[in-house]
Amino acid sequence: MEWTREQRYRNYETMTTTEQETLIESVSSSFWRQGVHIQPPYGLLNDPNGFTWFNGRFYLFYQWFPFGPVHGLKHWYQTSSTHLTKWENDGLALEPEYTHESHGIFSGSGFVHQNQLYLFYTANHRDRDWVRTSSQCIAVMNTDGTITKVKEPVIAKQPPGYTEHFRDPKVWQSGERFYMVIGAQRDDLSGCILLYRSDNLSEWTWIGEVKTNETQFGFMWECPDYFEIDGKGIMLFSPQGLEPDGESYQNLYQSGAFISDRLNLETGVLNHAPFQEIDAGFDFYAPQTTLAPDGRRLLMGWMGLPEIEYPTDQEGWAHCMTIPRELFLQNGRLCQRPVKELEELRGTAKAEDHLASYGSVELTSFSAKRYELSATITLSSAKQAGLKLAVGQDEETVIYVDRVLNRVILDRSKSGVPFAEAYGTTRSVPYTKDEIELQVFIDSSSIEVFINGGEYAFTARIFPHESSTGVHFFSEDGSSSVKAIQWEY
Ligand code: FRU
Repeated sequence: MEWTREQRYRNYETMTTTEQETLIESVSSSFWRQGVHIQPPYGLLNDPNGFTWFNGRFYLFYQWFPFGPVHGLKHWYQTSSTHLTKWENDGLALEPEYTHESHGIFSGSGFVHQNQLYLFYTANHRDRDWVRTSSQCIAVMNTDGTITKVKEPVIAKQPPGYTEHFRDPKVWQSGERFYMVIGAQRDDLSGCILLYRSDNLSEWTWIGEVKTNETQFGFMWECPDYFEIDGKGIMLFSPQGLEPDGESYQNLYQSGAFISDRLNLETGVLNHAPFQEIDAGFDFYAPQTTLAPDGRRLLMGWMGLPEIEYPTDQEGWAHCMTIPRELFLQNGRLCQRPVKELEELRGTAKAEDHLASYGSVELTSFSAKRYELSATITLSSAKQAGLKLAVGQDEETVIYVDRVLNRVILDRSKSGVPFAEAYGTTRSVPYTKDEIELQVFIDSSSIEVFINGGEYAFTARIFPHESSTGVHFFSEDGSSSVKAIQWEY
């Protein structure tokens, strides 16, 4: 169905009870509703926003278009959790009210100051000729949960030299001062990040562009996020417009980081290593981080991409978040592993150990719809060995080591209902070891695989048939062994 502008630019308040009931009914009959991932009640979810620890809880807002599985008038939906495992759906948090927000409350971040949660967001406005103005705004949440917007933008528009693609503020503190990075586009239509500073969170001074080594690297950099780990400055962002390059940049848009010396907050200079993608899978975009009270740098990502049709579109909802992950640096790379709190979701452990050569073994006790699985695979003479997951008649999602290609490969060519095939059906990373540890999270319509404790991560949506719940271990052209544990959740 084609959505008209009128249908796309409706405020949530105008949803009728009948419309809401129809959506709820359609979503409730979906087999692909997730078990442990944040997902919209109906409509479309995209970027994580305002991810923060505040007043004894984690808050995670997200971009939400309530009326259906398309990008329209964006609102912020609120979720929260004490432990990163079970998330409460708290309901609508921010909706467009003022003229400068008339075409959506776009992405932004959270920052706790004087016992209040400051929510920074981009207000998106279009005039009659559909010309866009983007401004940066604040809403403040008190400890009783009420949210009040500051009526006027704190940054009314982009500085000279940049287009109206000016969005996704992320705020942090260094010393006595506050800093903000904003995703931007230069007048020559190349992507970049702008740096601002403030003494009081409401008056912001433009410092300049973040000066990186990449001056022509895609047409827009979305959702920047700056933080430090082990004394290194990490600039995480989502560049749009990179061409595929070998096995890199295979998705429509990318997400990754510049790992650098610290960002120079006076000059904006960032001395950094080449751009590194942080997820090797298919569906991962616009991630955002926050600092946990115990000092861990946590990340949530949107398990989806814009401009692609997903099978649940038919059911009136689209997309979900990744599981929460912890970031760390290893051998100069930014890596991610599932947060340890997820172990609390584990049910009873089942174990299977197998030796295989020339074919597959079914791990019969593992058949399930949603689970965490941990497997150590040792390749002896095998040329390929790995796991087939969500196996059913003619369906399987395969993660394996290929010793001829020296790769770890995720293959979703037979995962179920096909989608996004124009972007390929396999993803791979270089790999030369004889042993591999896989930590896999399977939910009703997703797979997340962490290799060797987070050295690499693969994130993907899959849409298998209800009966595709099998788990197989396989070894081709020689032998290998597996030791696996599975916990349903
Ligand atoms: C990224 C993004 C952001 C923007 C938001 C709008 O997916 O395009 O740049 O703020 O989505 O929903």
